[in-house]
Amino acid sequence: MIVSLIAAVPSNGAIGKNNQLIWDLPKDMKFFMDSTMEHNIIMGRKNFESIPEKYRPLRNRTNIIVTRNTEYKAENCFVTHSIKAAIEIAEQNNEKECFIIGGGEIYRQSLEENLVDRMYITHIKSDFDGDTFFPKVDWKKWSKRNLFSHIANSENPHDFDVVCYEK
Ligand SMILES: NC(=O)c1ccc[n+]([C@@H]2O[C@H](COP(=O)([O-])OP(=O)(O)OC[C@H]3O[C@@H](n4cnc5c(N)ncnc54)[C@H](OP(=O)(O)O)[C@@H]3O)[C@@H](O)[C@H]2O)c1
Repeated sequence: MIVSLIAAVPSNGAIGKNNQLIWDLPKDMKFFMDSTMEHNIIMGRKNFESIPEKYRPLRNRTNIIVTRNTEYKAENCFVTHSIKAAIEIAEQNNEKECFIIGGGEIYRQSLEENLVDRMYITHIKSDFDGDTFFPKVDWKKWSKRNLFSHIANSENPHDFDVVCYEK
């Protein structure tokens, strides 16, 4: 099974504020939705709770939540207590490619623990004011494939490049 990570990361690395996303980029959201559709997705408890209630669990995906709280329950989701255990659940579900979908703490630990094989990163070419950051990554250590680029327009008002990195 391939362990992938998917994130949107602006120039200054701020990926969220007050447990919410900071931008509105429907084209990138569609890329996220299409990429993760029908897959096992692994997320921190805070990221799960940041998803508006009517959209969670994210439909047509197996939602796996990581929390230290052994009492935590979320309907129609797997709940587990480490990132490695979450990856094992995906493996047991016969997944071919699972997706670590954040937030900041889960991205940082999964990269530090060398659990990630592939990353899909939307590099947004703007700075944002945030309180949660993507970890520092030496992008040059990964082999890079550009997937597509976007030039700012009225619907998606920031330039961005979507890049796939392989270990
Ligand atoms: N730009 C993007 O692509 C993107 C993607 C996803 C999320 N986000 C943003 O990221 C922010 C949320 O990120 P965050 O860093 O605050 O939180 P997070 O990573 O989503 O969740 C943190 C929580 O995960 C649990 N956890 C962390 N490490 C664990 C471990 N080793 N074992 C067991 N449980 C563990 C803990 O839950 P308990 O406290 O319950 O124990 C912890 O409080 C939001 O603003 C969201 O909008 C951005």
